[in-house]
Amino acid sequence: MLKVCKIALLSLLCVFECQAHAESPKVAIASAHPLATAAGFEVLAKGGNVYDAAVAVSAALAVVEPFASGLGGGAYWLLHREKDNFDTLIDGREKAPLAAHKAMFLDKDGQVIDKLSLDGALASAIPGMPAGLVHLSEKYGQLSLAENLAPAIRYAQTGFAIGERYLKLLKFRADTLKQFPETAQLFLPAGQLPQPFSILRQPDLANTLTQIAKSGRNGFYKGQVADQLLEGVKNRGGIWTQEDLDAYEVVERKPVTGYYKDIKITSSAPSSSGGIVLIEALNILEGYDLAALTDLTRKHLIVEAMRRAYHDRSLYLGDADFINIPVERLLNDDYAAGLRSSIRFDKALPSQQLSGQLELHSEGINTTHFSIIDEDGNRVAATLSINFPFGSGVVPAGTGVVLNDEMDDFDSLPGALNGYGLIGGVANAIAPGKRMLSSMAPTFLETKDQVAVLGTPGGSKIISMVLLAALDFSIGHTPDSWVNVPRYHHQFMPDVIEYEANALSEADIKDLKSLGHQLKPVRYPYGDMQAVLLNKTTKTLSAASDKRGEGQAVVGQ
Ligand code: DON
Repeated sequence: MLKVCKIALLSLLCVFECQAHAESPKVAIASAHPLATAAGFEVLAKGGNVYDAAVAVSAALAVVEPFASGLGGGAYWLLHREKDNFDTLIDGREKAPLAAHKAMFLDKDGQVIDKLSLDGALASAIPGMPAGLVHLSEKYGQLSLAENLAPAIRYAQTGFAIGERYLKLLKFRADTLKQFPETAQLFLPAGQLPQPFSILRQPDLANTLTQIAKSGRNGFYKGQVADQLLEGVKNRGGIWTQEDLDAYEVVERKPVTGYYKDIKITSSAPSSSGGIVLIEALNILEGYDLAALTDLTRKHLIVEAMRRAYHDRSLYLGDADFINIPVERLLNDDYAAGLRSSIRFDKALPSQQLSGQLELHSEGINTTHFSIIDEDGNRVAATLSINFPFGSGVVPAGTGVVLNDEMDDFDSLPGALNGYGLIGGVANAIAPGKRMLSSMAPTFLETKDQVAVLGTPGGSKIISMVLLAALDFSIGHTPDSWVNVPRYHHQFMPDVIEYEANALSEADIKDLKSLGHQLKPVRYPYGDMQAVLLNKTTKTLSAASDKRGEGQAVVGQ
């Protein structure tokens, strides 16, 4: 069935190719769903640029992956415009409601109340995705917002066949979704899991998207949709007000940049930790000739670099609009050299010796990423999320919008663990209007003749996945290799290397243990990386979609 769907899509793409403007450049798109990739090509065929395509892909993903991202969530879009060599990060991360406060997830004894920041509307922060789509389309696109949203509206109206990934995540969250009748009605018809490949139609979501297409941000943050959102949130224990919706704005930020050898890295700035942790780890690793080392030592050093960079994440990172982050220090080569000097070749450093005592666990395959580049080098890397699969489980009646549970990405209590086992402190404490710290890392890697665009979902593991892909890029491998590289991960706490079954051999495991590392296999492969590559000299494009997912990478016009 999926094959049939893919074949139908390819013929659709051919139609777009035939209709494409003669002067339009070739484009590569990799996304987590074939219909989202097709939506991008559909607007390109109408004369859209890569930013229009990014709007169309983002909106389509909101429809065909309602478990991963959507209008009820947030996103980071990393953009590059070639003609004036301009880079920017559109920070469309959700914001805490104005009535939010530090202790909102704690009981009277000051303990974290289980699941309160994950299930139900108190877990939902003010969505940034709708404002981001409007901003991206109106400021950077060439087509109208309505044209860019058209494929998504069509998918929501006519429906699409649900895949295995959808069903797996629905099953995982079914108990939560059943608590909310509006949600169960939509995703669990007759209280049951739907059959594989059955058609999901979302007429309410089509209507909400249509309101945005007609009225821009007012179609979501004001009027009928806003009223329905506020009512639905109130009914499910949330604290949103019209003032919150009025106050939501995306922010354009300067991306963080750094170098690993001759590779320029451009990635997300806070409110995401992605770029800083990625570059800090690469700065530490730059002091070694990794290619000349044994496989064991290389892996050991990569883990030790991850440990130290994630440690700084938990100490220093949060929303830059609320706290001072020592970005320059964290990205400084001398600072990295200091951290490197604490790394021994023959011994793992227990994380507790870095600081404090803290603990914990892992992630999922929700959230989503796409990458787009044209042959001129214009490009977008975007990671979009509602956090856990199907977010908070709340869908306000009449909207079709799945609300995020991104409040869990704050630190409800210094030293407490969030759903990804991440710990943090005051830097990422809850405050009204603040953005919760993210790990999303939409990234560009650039050398004299190559530009790569990549990213992935995976909660706290996002950054280590992008790190391993960047190292794979640095040794001359192709996108197909970066996205499928076997993965291992260390995030400072818990003090353990988590690894995919094929990432470490029996000998690796034994040798890493002998250096003092603790190891834990993950139950399932993780991540869903989407990557595209331009060779600037030959103007050749290539693209790859992670084999772990159900995405599609296409080079077309
Ligand atoms: O912003 C973050 O870091 C998380 N909310 C991302 C969640 C995610 O990637 C879930 N996927 N496994």
